[in-house]
Amino acid sequence: MAENIVVQGESKTEIYKSLTPQIASLIEHEPDIVANFANISAVLKQAFNFLWVGFYRVIDSELVLGPFQGPVACTRISKGKGVCGSAWAQGKTIIVADVDLFPGHIACSSLSRSEIVVPLFNGAREVIAVLDVDSETINNFDAIDQLHLEEIVALLN
Ligand code: SME
Repeated sequence: MAENIVVQGESKTEIYKSLTPQIASLIEHEPDIVANFANISAVLKQAFNFLWVGFYRVIDSELVLGPFQGPVACTRISKGKGVCGSAWAQGKTIIVADVDLFPGHIACSSLSRSEIVVPLFNGAREVIAVLDVDSETINNFDAIDQLHLEEIVALLN
């Protein structure tokens, strides 16, 4: 297992491209998904210093807080609620440029201004978790983040 992560590049595309293979090798020999959620959260926090990076797991009829980096967060989110619950219900990535304009946004931290939520699917195409990344900057996430975060989440399968 890699002992430390090297963050290389100027643009976010370059940074993601340097991180993704390192994340792949970090998790490839570890079958425990919670351990892998923890290390992926740490890598993304270290590389981009996002306000909050973490995972919620689908347990019964709710999303339950999993490993994360950042301020304390809401522990349970119902299906269809907030950005995380909507990404779960819709089975797709959601980018919110301005959290104040997203009806039902769940404000775990008043500092959060924009966010992206990426679902993780099992082999039956059911959502089993979501990756949530929050930023203190408005409009911080775009198709580049979506492309690379979806690629990173897919490594978990
Ligand atoms: N903002 C999220 C809730 C999770 S926290 O931001 C960590 C949402 O609306 O689903």
